[in-house]
Amino acid sequence: MNNTENIFYMDHPLIQHKISMLRDKRTGTNEFRKLVEEIAVLMGYEAFRDLPVEKAEIETPMEVCQSYMITGKKLAVVPILRAGLGMVNGILTLVPSAKVGHIGLCRNHETHEPEEYYCKLPSPIEERTIAALDPMLATGGSAVAAVDFIKAHGGRQIKFLCIIAAPEGVERLHKAHPDVQIYCGCLDRCLNEDAYICPGLGDAGDRIFGTK
Ligand code: PRP
Ligand code: URA
Repeated sequence: MNNTENIFYMDHPLIQHKISMLRDKRTGTNEFRKLVEEIAVLMGYEAFRDLPVEKAEIETPMEVCQSYMITGKKLAVVPILRAGLGMVNGILTLVPSAKVGHIGLCRNHETHEPEEYYCKLPSPIEERTIAALDPMLATGGSAVAAVDFIKAHGGRQIKFLCIIAAPEGVERLHKAHPDVQIYCGCLDRCLNEDAYICPGLGDAGDRIFGTK
C-alpha cells in the first residue's frame, strides 16, 4: 500500500490484476460481479489492518493461551447504491456480523451532482467503524454527500473504499472530510466531459447489474 495522510492506494498485484480484468470491455456481467466482490475482499483485508485487537484467553485442545481478537468498535458496511452493492458480500466475507446500511444516490446526468433517493443506516452508529463502499470515485460529489449523511447521523470513524478514483474525486473528498480514510484500488488519469473516469471501466452500476 502507498500511503499519504489518510489516502491509501493499493499496489497489491492481485488487486491490480483483477482491476485490469474489470476494465476490459469484453468482461461480461457475471465475471464483472465476481471480480468486484473479490476486489472488495482484498481491499477490505488491507483497509481493516488497523482494527484494534486485544488479548483473549482461548482454550485450545492442547492448553489455554492468550490470543488476539478484534475488540471494541463493531463494523457497519454502507454501500452507495447501486454500484456499491457489488462490494458488500466481499466485505461481509471478512466480517460476517457487520450491520449493513444503504445510501441511495444517483448522479444527475446534466449537473453530475448526486441526488438522494433512499438512505437507511444501522442505529446507533456512533461507536461503529463504518466502511462506505462505492467502486467509483469520480467528481467526488456522491462520496461527499454519503459521508455528510453518515456524519449527520453520528458516524465518526469512516473508511471509504473505492476501486477506481479520479484525482478530482480524491481531492474533493479529502478536502471536505480529511478525517475519512480513503482506500483506492487504482488512481486513474482524469474525468472526461461527462464526468466519467478515464481510462476507468465505464458505468459500474450498469456493468454490475447488466443494465444500460
Ligand atoms: C456512480 C458511482 C458513484 C458515482 C460516482 O453512480 O457508482 O456512486 O457515480 O460519481 P461522482 O464521484 O461523480 O459522484 P451513479 O450515480 O451512476 O448511480 P448507479 O450506481 O445507480 O449507477
Ligand atoms: N460512475 C461510473 O460508474 N463510472 C464513472 O466513470 C464515473 C461515475
